[in-house]
Amino acid sequence: MAIAHGEKLLKYLEENGTANSLKLSELWNEEHQKIVGTVKSLLCLGDVIEAELQSNVKWDLTEEGKQVATHGSHEAQVYNAIPPSGSTQPEIMAQASILNAGFTKDIAKVGFSKAMSLGWIAVDKSSGAPKVVRKIDSIQDLVQEHLKEIASGKNMLTNELRTEYKKRKLIQEIVVKSYEMKPGSSFSTSVTKQETDLTPEMIASGSWKTKEFKPYNLNALGTPVPRGHLHPLMKVRAEFRQIFLEMGFTEMPTNNYVESSFWNFDALFQPQQHPARDAHDTFFLADPATASNIPSDYMERVKNVHSYGGYGSQGYGYDWKVEEAQKNLLRTHTTAVSARMLYALAQGGFKPAKYFSIDRVFRNETLDATHLAEFHQIEGVIADYGLTLGNLIGVLYEFFRKLGIDKLRFKPAYNPYTEPSMEIFSYHPGLKKWVEIGNSGIFRPEMLLPMGLPEDVSVLAWGLSLERPTMIKYGYDNIRDLVGPKVNLQMVADNPLCRLDK
Ligand code: PHE
Repeated sequence: MAIAHGEKLLKYLEENGTANSLKLSELWNEEHQKIVGTVKSLLCLGDVIEAELQSNVKWDLTEEGKQVATHGSHEAQVYNAIPPSGSTQPEIMAQASILNAGFTKDIAKVGFSKAMSLGWIAVDKSSGAPKVVRKIDSIQDLVQEHLKEIASGKNMLTNELRTEYKKRKLIQEIVVKSYEMKPGSSFSTSVTKQETDLTPEMIASGSWKTKEFKPYNLNALGTPVPRGHLHPLMKVRAEFRQIFLEMGFTEMPTNNYVESSFWNFDALFQPQQHPARDAHDTFFLADPATASNIPSDYMERVKNVHSYGGYGSQGYGYDWKVEEAQKNLLRTHTTAVSARMLYALAQGGFKPAKYFSIDRVFRNETLDATHLAEFHQIEGVIADYGLTLGNLIGVLYEFFRKLGIDKLRFKPAYNPYTEPSMEIFSYHPGLKKWVEIGNSGIFRPEMLLPMGLPEDVSVLAWGLSLERPTMIKYGYDNIRDLVGPKVNLQMVADNPLCRLDK
């Protein structure tokens, strides 16, 4: 198509020596953009033609100018609205707006003063109330005539008039780009379509020897490569994972959303009457409703520590039931995974270990702008001989410093499985206040000793959510913009890389 047009253009160039894209568009009654396309595709052929881009300034009517060209100038509209016997100014304005759609107060004002200064109308005060009358019998609306001429492509205005109409916003300058062409050094009137690919067939038949190949356009931009995008939560997760790895932690296997109450609660010395174990707070599974693969001797020790105590503890003194421990649920915290890992660590002959996990947990929450029924927890666990609360505080400072947070405060708290327990607060320079960022503690002997861990081993642990730092980092105040069916997928594609200010 473009090439067929191209041959027509080349013929024209051969006959006339030069060509201009605007003139051709008029001559062939073809859209200028189409001719420009043809010029560009001819330019791609090498030196068949030479073309120079030219900018020409042209005057054209503005929207208001078009109105004037059809309905007459503002002053003429005012003049025409005056009845032979004259009338009051407000009545004339009203009449003019009936005669001409879009005749506003502003137009009336301009028209009125123009008509006055042209001497077309006058204000007659002889009979008391001022009356506007026609001063001459007929008018010639030059403005309308001029604008009609401009619209039809004639452009004979004096500079003064042009300036005046421009000032009245009736005309505007537009820049028209066109190509001025002449034959190039390898000019020819017939163009063969250049090949873009060398095919096996061309090589086999030898036709490549006579074919013309399109040169590579090394300046062409490539098409964007379709690719996957990491969700902001996953980007922030990668940063946290990096921090743990730098600090020598090993990632725990968290690939089980379904957990038994035993590992989620009982192993953590959380009594069976604890309110968190209520269906109001925890999602229990209907099918399979129970788990049966709990190590029996360990389970027996857990039962005993809950019911009667031991290891220096008096226990809770209630009737511990295996049925309650077997109930399957969606894990409410990743500490269930930590419990499994610590139990495994005790079985294999204890060695000091540093573990971390970042994965999903589920809670039967009331949903609002900052809470969903599922979220991600980040958890760190350190097991070693003779660790103290001082070690926990030290490692928390180190961990949060790597996140760019160096002001911390700790508040005594309660968890069934840690003693002492501390909530972690950091100073938020933006909010200018201390905000809670995590929870921590030293696991209780009632949890560790039944597992079989040596008595002089302490286990430090802390946890925080992944959503909170992600919302702060990416500036979301509604969790539903980040997670769930209302998430804008483009947000996921456009979101910048995560770089924590370490
Ligand atoms: N499991 C706690 C929670 O869900 C966090 C935590 C982890 C607290 C480890 C202390 C130690 O909030």
